[in-house]
Amino acid sequence: MKHFISVNDLQTTDVLDILDLAEHYRKYDHLKTQKQLFAANLFFEPSTRTKMSFIVAQRKLGIESLDFHSETSSMKKGESLYDTAKTFEAIGSDILVIRHEFDDWPEEICSSLNIPVINAGAGKKEHPTQCMLDLHTIYQEFGHFNKLNIVIAGDIKHSRVARSNAQTLRRMGANVYFCAAPTFMDKTLDFPYISMDEAVGICDVMMLLRIQHERHDQFASVENYHQAFGLTLDREKRMKKSAIILHPAPINRGVEIASELIECERSRIFQQMSNGVLIRMAIITKLLKERGLNDENFIEKRKTVVAAR
Ligand code: CP
Repeated sequence: MKHFISVNDLQTTDVLDILDLAEHYRKYDHLKTQKQLFAANLFFEPSTRTKMSFIVAQRKLGIESLDFHSETSSMKKGESLYDTAKTFEAIGSDILVIRHEFDDWPEEICSSLNIPVINAGAGKKEHPTQCMLDLHTIYQEFGHFNKLNIVIAGDIKHSRVARSNAQTLRRMGANVYFCAAPTFMDKTLDFPYISMDEAVGICDVMMLLRIQHERHDQFASVENYHQAFGLTLDREKRMKKSAIILHPAPINRGVEIASELIECERSRIFQQMSNGVLIRMAIITKLLKERGLNDENFIEKRKTVVAAR
C-alpha cells in the first residue's frame, strides 16, 4: 500500500488489518516514532472532522502536522496542486493528506510522488478514510458485516461517502440498499433502491447523508424532503431494536434526520467521529510501516498483543 487513495485498492486483509490496528489504538492510545516525522494537510474544501481528526491522529503518533491554507499559499500565484505537493515532499514532509473538489486529483498527482498520499476526499468520487471509520463503527457494534442490511439514504448522486461505503460494505458481505429522492439517485451504481418506509423496517444500519448543495443547485424543500425521504421521529420508532444510525456529518438538522434523533440511543454519530481518529492513526501507521518509517518495536509489541488475544 504506497498511498491510501481508493477503497478499490484495498485487499480484504488490508481492511481487516486497519480495523484491528484502530482497535489496538483504542486500547494502547499512542505510538511515538523515534525519528521526527512531518505530515502536511492540504485541504481545498471545507472540513471540520476529517482535518482535525487527522491532526489529532498525527500528534498522537508523534508526527508534526504542517498546516496549509490554500488562500494564502502560492497556489494564489498559479502554482498547481502537483507542484504544491512536490514542494511539501522536497521540504521534508513524510506524508500528505489531501482533500480537493476535483474527482480525479489522485490519478493526476500520486504516481510521481515519492511520499504516501492519503485521500481525505476526492470530489464526489471517494472518501476512503470515512468509509474505514464507518466500517469500524459497524464492526464494533455487530462484530461482522455478513448479511447486515445497510441502507445508505440521501443525496447518493453527489456523495463520495456513498460510493466508497457501498462498494466496500458489499465486498465485506453486507446487503447494501440505497434510498433517495429521484433527483438524487445515481442509476450508474448497481445497488437496489428502496423507499424510506421500507428501509426503516429492514435495516440494521441506517446511514444518512446530507444534500450536497455545494455540488449542485437542485433545491429541495426542507419540510417536504424530511417527510418524504428523511428519518422522521415516526420512522425511527419502526426500526429494529438493534438497528443503529450513522451519519458522516455535517448534519442538516430536520432535513435528512429529525434533530431529536442525532443523540438518541441508537445513534452512533459522535462515536463515528471518535473512531475517525483511531482509523486515521491506523492508516498512517500502515503507510509508514510500508516505508520503514514507523517504530518497529511498536509493530513487534502489537504482534505479541494480537497473538495473545
Ligand atoms: N465527514 C466529513 O468528511 O466531515 P468534514 O467535511 O467536516 O471533514
